[in-house]
Amino acid sequence: MDAIWTLGSDVAAGVFPTLQEDREVDVAVIGAGITGMSTALQLAEAGRNVLVLESHSVGYGVTGGSTGNLYSPLASGLASIRSKWDSTAVADVVTSRAEAVDRIEAWVQQYGIECDFRRTPLYRVVPSADEANHSLDDERDAMAAAGLTVTDADDLELPFETRGLKVENQAQFNPLHYLQGLAQAASRAGVAIHEHSPVREVDDKHGVIVTDTARITAQHIVHATHTPKGISMLQGGMLTSREYAVSARLSQGHYPEGILWVLDPFHSLRSYRHGGEQYLMAIGEKHKTGEHQGDHYQKMREYLERHFDVASFTHEWSAQQYTSPDGLPYIGRMHGRDNVYLATGFAADGLVWGTLAGSILSDLIQERDNPWHARYDARRITPGKSASQYAKENATVAKHMFKDYLGTDKLKTFDDVAPGEARVATVDGEKLAVRRDEAGELKVLSAVCPHMKCIVHWNAAETTWDCPCHGSRFDANGEVIEGPAYEMLARRTPGT
Ligand SMILES: Cc1cc2nc3c(=O)[nH]c(=O)nc-3n(C[C@H](O)[C@H](O)[C@H](O)COP(=O)(O)OP(=O)(O)OC[C@H]3O[C@@H](n4cnc5c(N)ncnc54)[C@H](O)[C@@H]3O)c2cc1C
Ligand code: FES
Repeated sequence: MDAIWTLGSDVAAGVFPTLQEDREVDVAVIGAGITGMSTALQLAEAGRNVLVLESHSVGYGVTGGSTGNLYSPLASGLASIRSKWDSTAVADVVTSRAEAVDRIEAWVQQYGIECDFRRTPLYRVVPSADEANHSLDDERDAMAAAGLTVTDADDLELPFETRGLKVENQAQFNPLHYLQGLAQAASRAGVAIHEHSPVREVDDKHGVIVTDTARITAQHIVHATHTPKGISMLQGGMLTSREYAVSARLSQGHYPEGILWVLDPFHSLRSYRHGGEQYLMAIGEKHKTGEHQGDHYQKMREYLERHFDVASFTHEWSAQQYTSPDGLPYIGRMHGRDNVYLATGFAADGLVWGTLAGSILSDLIQERDNPWHARYDARRITPGKSASQYAKENATVAKHMFKDYLGTDKLKTFDDVAPGEARVATVDGEKLAVRRDEAGELKVLSAVCPHMKCIVHWNAAETTWDCPCHGSRFDANGEVIEGPAYEMLARRTPGT
């Protein structure tokens, strides 16, 4: 399902060639999202020999499915960071993120990227009906202490009464058009970008990357894949969730301006103009990956219809986020490997974190000091701040391992799977992911996730197999869409 950002651009087509020959480079970047392209561009500007490998096409990942909001606070709130860390950490978050938004604006101007970038306010509001359940005082205080100018949000034109906070001078853009422009700028600066070139294996020790068609030797390897590929100690304790977006045209009424977060408990609203038409989008219905409850798109459509006069729905899409246990992203060198780098744990704020990661990682690779590296160091150990989420997420993995291995039904014959149905079932002692599409075609895959052997779950909204343990996702044919798994779900031939 396509995001609204694909209006006016063909993300599937791809413009960069598949890598067909072996290469030797200074830096190999895996992943052409905002993190990978920001890192690659800065290294190329500094004269380094850089190659980017993308399994699908530029913008295929979460960057192309984001909301396109750019802000220095955090969607989950600065107050929660202050309670885990301290006021200095909150001030660092705000200052470093404001610098990253400025960096995006500077590149938009320098490289002439047409992505509808504009400065706009951010609103964090509570519907008046829910007022008794919410206090925004802590958040106002944390924002002000970090140097942000916060005022009352009294100029909002919404079809429901709210009260809340307003922060000026944040920004919005079309994230896909920005990323495509960044890729063009990087390519002109000498970066070799290769789409449809999935990395299948990384030998960190020897600096070797293997794709289906080439072997790359690199002095430095950057995992810009949203979560590092393969097994990483950072995956334990990471909360992996999905969120859903729908966009609509209104028959009448006002399209709200700015970045709008409605704490009801949380929906993000924003407008977008393309080709003379205006659109309103809403994002919400967050849940843990692999744990689906009902039709999330329908709930989002109902949310918009409850509040606005919807003429028609135009797009719907979903995307994934990884939230670190101590609330800050991990950016830097991987544990035990000085030549391998990663950036993850961006939660819902990663367009800005990914841009900041580009600066930190390119400085590390060039052995230059970076003022923010120590704050977000990927090797930090923060047991006191991480313990609660770490325990919860590891319990989730243990629960799924136990329940999914013991609890699946036995399937006597594949004829029991009806058209449109998907099931995880035990057949001859093996856990299988079985799906018959609406046309009656049967697909049988191993249900065992190749990452760390959890059992995948069917996601009916996206027609994908999703792993509840660390967020690997596979299409109906078993191919990897995202997450830490390198390999696809093994195919099985239906025998009965
Ligand atoms: C619904 C939603 C809305 C959001 N809205 C916002 C927002 O408004 N503002 C904000 O700041 N943040 C937002 N975020 C978060 C933000 O979009 C992400 O954190 C950010 O885009 C991550 O960028 P990335 O480059 O690290 O990852 P990605 O954009 O996912 O890029 C990673 C790339 O790596 C590629 N890849 C993966 N495996 C391989 C492999 N084996 N070989 C080669 N390539 C591979 C993928 O195909 C992908 O293109 C949102 C998140 C969600 C879920
Ligand atoms: S993603 Fe880790 S086991 Fe599936």
